Amino acid sequence: MTRLRSCAPLLLLLLAACGTPAPAPPVPAASPAAAPQETAAAAVDDPHSHANSETVRVRHLELDLAVDFAARRLSGRAGLLLDNPADARRLVLDTRDLEVRQVRVDGGDAAYELGEPAPHLGRPLIVELPPAARRVEVDYVTSPDAAALQWLTANQTAVGRHPFLFTQSQAILARTWIPLQDTPAVRFTYEATLRVPPGLMAVMSADNPQRKAADGVYRFSMPQAIPSYLMALAVGDLEFRATGDRSGVYAEPPVVEAAAWEFAQVPEMMATVEELYGPYRWGRYDLLVLPPSFPFGGMENPRLTFVTPTILAGDRSLVSLVAHELAHSWSGNLVTNATWNDFWLNEGFTTYLENRIMEALFGRPYAEMLAQLGRQDLEEEIAQLGADSPDTRLHLDLGGRDPDEGMTAVAYDKGALLLRLLENEVGRERFDAFLRAYFDRHAFQSMTTAAFLAYLERELLARVPQLDADALRIDAWVHGVGLPANAPRVEAAELERVEGQLERLAAGAPAGELDTGGWTTHHWLHLLRHLPAELPQQRLAELDRQFGLSDSGNSEVLFAWLMQAVRQDYEPAYPALERFLTGMGRRKFLEPLYRELAKDPEGRRLALRIYARARPGYHSVAVHTVDAILDWGATAPDAAGEAHPSSTSTTTFPSTPPAASAA
Ligand code: BES
Ligand code: ZN
Repeated sequence: MTRLRSCAPLLLLLLAACGTPAPAPPVPAASPAAAPQETAAAAVDDPHSHANSETVRVRHLELDLAVDFAARRLSGRAGLLLDNPADARRLVLDTRDLEVRQVRVDGGDAAYELGEPAPHLGRPLIVELPPAARRVEVDYVTSPDAAALQWLTANQTAVGRHPFLFTQSQAILARTWIPLQDTPAVRFTYEATLRVPPGLMAVMSADNPQRKAADGVYRFSMPQAIPSYLMALAVGDLEFRATGDRSGVYAEPPVVEAAAWEFAQVPEMMATVEELYGPYRWGRYDLLVLPPSFPFGGMENPRLTFVTPTILAGDRSLVSLVAHELAHSWSGNLVTNATWNDFWLNEGFTTYLENRIMEALFGRPYAEMLAQLGRQDLEEEIAQLGADSPDTRLHLDLGGRDPDEGMTAVAYDKGALLLRLLENEVGRERFDAFLRAYFDRHAFQSMTTAAFLAYLERELLARVPQLDADALRIDAWVHGVGLPANAPRVEAAELERVEGQLERLAAGAPAGELDTGGWTTHHWLHLLRHLPAELPQQRLAELDRQFGLSDSGNSEVLFAWLMQAVRQDYEPAYPALERFLTGMGRRKFLEPLYRELAKDPEGRRLALRIYARARPGYHSVAVHTVDAILDWGATAPDAAGEAHPSSTSTTTFPSTPPAASAA
């Protein structure tokens, strides 16, 4: 943690306490471990937190918040129970855009100060602690612009009668709605009381209600210790449907049936991961389907994964995303990246686990197809970052930057490829046992890249004759740029069928004569990603007509098609493009489309016109990204010409995507 910076503003007040405290022994995780555990990792230096958590740690949070939709504010209190073995005399918390009203320590008024805001990080809240302090209480109010919170008006929801609120804390946005040690190296349990308008349900990353409370008061408890980025809350007109004994879905009433059908395979997925990597340790696993502005595909909030409605394809073809978020219950939520530089430990492992789940449920050929599409994503990402960009390394150096910049396909797909290499080298049986023990022995702890590499060497590589880190070029994988030459191949025989049809297409075969029998969504994605460049407009029209591409209810298919439409200036698809960009706010779809549009002046004008309408409906995370692509601050409103319509014509994000069509 950045001790010096947080000390500076308080020099006079707290000079003595600030010095160089003796490093405290690491605080053990608050949750019980089911297996013999390694000792907790040494204190880590997180460049994205002001907190002095190497010395004093928050181990339990008591939250009491009222939700005010009219003012777009949360207000209330965070009570923080401390683990303070060295009796530190100050506690530094992370905050961003919080209005702090009062701070008490063990019931008495406390001296505190909000330090200067640092770029991306917000302001440290520095609280003076009397000897043997145990409990700090912060009374506060969030800002209407809090980056973690999206406040939706009723007409941005499916029913249109009630407003909706949801949070997105990863990576460092929890501090915009709770003052805490906002670093993944600290874990705490929590209890919360949420006061919401009657008629709405509140759900959190905790044990959840299954029906609405008449008085709008909800109490939560989360007995497993979690890092701050997994703090989550949603409030809306929600309904629950079970999909199994310990799984279910929450969604707005018109969506809940479709969601329960789409995600009916969750119990099977849970059984699969448990078989491979040990018991699910979080009690229930529910899914919350959010309104379409949710900026991510999914977010692995413990006990309650948040997902985008754009995976409701109507045919269960996009459920690998659920497998991914479920897998985080082991890789990420149980063993957690210690800092955002170690992000690949969360996402690379999870992408590998996701593929194993898909293989177990749907067979190797299908899983290989998914892996191959991931490999394509990786190659595209590396090309975009530049083959020698430092951001193509697994272990990142994000100090001084928004951690968002490190959240690329490198962590996911290069990370997963490294694990695939290890599996290939030592054999599946041994590798599975290794991973299972890794999760058991580090459960409810954080993990640095260095600690993982040491564990890998000791527990796996050293035990297999003729194998060592040098031979596998582990260092090049983790600390080197690009993709090492020993990257394992993915054998996607299924996609060869698609390639045959692509060749026919390139040779002039009409769309109606393509052999697409038995194709899944992923065959289609491969075809659409690899359409011959500069197909004549009339051939694009033929494809569109033949396969209903512009009308596809499958968001991934539609996205892949629209990318081609933009690349090849196929204007008949532009109304569908505009509907798509104004109908949902998932960043993975927005970013490439806006980027592609922005490549030429005409496309850029269209992008600005659409964005002006869509922007008010997007989440801050997406706005941040698209603003940068379109240079929004600099060009708007002038360069956008008539791009700024009156506020009444801004998008309202219709409810569910239409039911899936064939493609
Ligand atoms: N934890 C991530 C989402 C995330 C990452 C949010 C970084 C904020 C910062 C989640 O598990 C994830 O990876 N979601 C993906 C889907 C997945 C199938 C690749 C997404 O949202 O696209
Ligand atoms: Zn993930």
